[in-house]
Amino acid sequence: MPKEKAIRELEDLPGIGPTTAEKLKAAGIDSLEKVATSFPANLSEISGINQEAAKKAIAAAQEATTLNTESAKALLKKRQDVGKISTGSKDLDELIGGGVETDAITEVYGRFASGKSQLGFQLAVNAQLPRKEGGLEGAVLFLDTEGTFRPERIATIAKKAGLDPETALDNILVVRAMSSDQQMLAAERADKLIQEKNIRLIIVDSLTSLFRAEFLGRGALNERQQKLNSHIHRLAVLANKYNIAVYVTNQVMDNPGMMFGDPTTPIGGNVLAHAATTMLYLRKSKEDKRIVRLVDSPNMPEGECVIKITPDGIT
Ligand SMILES: Nc1ncnc2c1ncn2[C@@H]1O[C@H](COP(=O)(O)OP(=O)(O)OP(=O)(O)O)[C@@H](O)[C@H]1O
Ligand SMILES: [Mg+2]
Repeated sequence: MPKEKAIRELEDLPGIGPTTAEKLKAAGIDSLEKVATSFPANLSEISGINQEAAKKAIAAAQEATTLNTESAKALLKKRQDVGKISTGSKDLDELIGGGVETDAITEVYGRFASGKSQLGFQLAVNAQLPRKEGGLEGAVLFLDTEGTFRPERIATIAKKAGLDPETALDNILVVRAMSSDQQMLAAERADKLIQEKNIRLIIVDSLTSLFRAEFLGRGALNERQQKLNSHIHRLAVLANKYNIAVYVTNQVMDNPGMMFGDPTTPIGGNVLAHAATTMLYLRKSKEDKRIVRLVDSPNMPEGECVIKITPDGIT
């Protein structure tokens, strides 16, 4: 018997040809995972194949989508490969366990001018530093969705950090995304770039603004959340696959229903809260001071620290 072809798409399943696959996709069953979790009767009704054939297709899909298991020991080994990028502030580094981690998504949310972008600029520089100085000796992919990337800030911060400003700018690849589709595509197509340019940090500033602008009103909320979910999932895959750091910024919206405490919540709600590994909340204090609150972390206690935004960067 010839060796069976690996199953990667619906068309590869036994008894499913291109036409049947199209019918399934049109009905929303557009992945092997979805076939694997379907009922035979349902699949049969949608596609027109008989129930026996449907059962076989489901079994094959289940086989092809077996979950990855890794031993805790192998995972510990992987954790030891995790790199950390210094934020420029010793206190903030300590708060988050040594710096912004690879194989993770770090989300920073806060109001306008709270310093989300400035922290991004600092990380874009620091990622390039030697390891013993808090860097990863790598390049940076910067998705600018708001047109607020400032090369001159990078040059100043780089100089202060002891890097040649020209080289530092060369090592930051900026994608100016004008629509959520462009933003998503940039992440979809990042594989080659990451490998060729030794990208160790991806910055998305801001993660949510284009989605918020494009999907207005209650009717569009579902679609917005779905797209955001798939985008952040894609970023998580990149973080894990290449062991790189992902830093995303997010605005906050006023939450008038809340009477006490700080009445603000990050845009995107649960979708993002669940996908981000570490969540930081930035807020303005006196003059150039900002208060950073660690809201969520898998291995560090909640806490706060104060950073300063200076002309030379974060201290
Ligand atoms: N060259 C500089 N020297 C000192 N401080 C600066 C400099 N440039 C910007 N800042 C400070 O950074 C603040 C802006 O921070 P940043 O742009 O990071 O805000 P943000 O949180 O990204 O806001 P938004 O939601 O509008 O994008 C300014 O209000 C200013 O205090
Ligand atoms: Mg900003």
